[in-house]
Amino acid sequence: MAASILSADFGHLADECAAVLDAGSDLLHIDVMDGHFVPNLSMGPAVCAAVRRAFPSAFLDVHLMVTDPAKFIEPFAEAGADHLTFHIEVEPQPESLCRSIRDLGCSAGVAINPETPIEKLRPALDSADLLLVMSVHPGFSGQKFLAEVLPKCAAISERRSPNQRLEIDGGVTAATAVACRAHGVEVLVTASALFGSADYAAEIAAIRGEPVTAPTASPPR
Ligand code: DX5
Ligand code: ZN
Repeated sequence: MAASILSADFGHLADECAAVLDAGSDLLHIDVMDGHFVPNLSMGPAVCAAVRRAFPSAFLDVHLMVTDPAKFIEPFAEAGADHLTFHIEVEPQPESLCRSIRDLGCSAGVAINPETPIEKLRPALDSADLLLVMSVHPGFSGQKFLAEVLPKCAAISERRSPNQRLEIDGGVTAATAVACRAHGVEVLVTASALFGSADYAAEIAAIRGEPVTAPTASPPR
């Protein structure tokens, strides 16, 4: 379970991160947008560094939605990232960038957009620590889940090696997470469904598919 802080209240970012970590989020997912690879701008290394200072032991999963990821891996590694994912659409031969990311002490992920054919991801199957299937067009939180990417998840799940993780990102809710898990996804990224909920712990449990603790029934009179 990875909480994407893109939908957090930025005016209270540390409180929001503390709340989702306390509620059971395993990772903080940091969406980086350059206004070029995607039509939006978001967070840079300074935000990552601030989150790292506030949460020394949180796992920081950085998603680079940028045209030139090689330029940003060092700044984000220095800012305390644990993991860096870049897109196959901008690095069709990902081996060397994955190696550079590992040399900086981070794990390396490769993401694929909804419209990109799965064959393009083949070179990443040998080199990435994590494969990320986008289930929305990247750039914004709050979009509808694209169920047509689920066969891609199943295919990656079958072909990946046991030490590779499969992550999905976009439109994940308690309802859509059921199909994600059934198609082999292990890491569920969620922004709007989590930060828009009234009870973060209950929402995380629901997305994980854990039974919701029912309120204790009153004893019969
Ligand atoms: C989309 C980002 C996602 C986004 C998910 O471009 O990569 O991480 O924050 O938002 P929701 O969960 O609202 O679809
Ligand atoms: Zn993301």
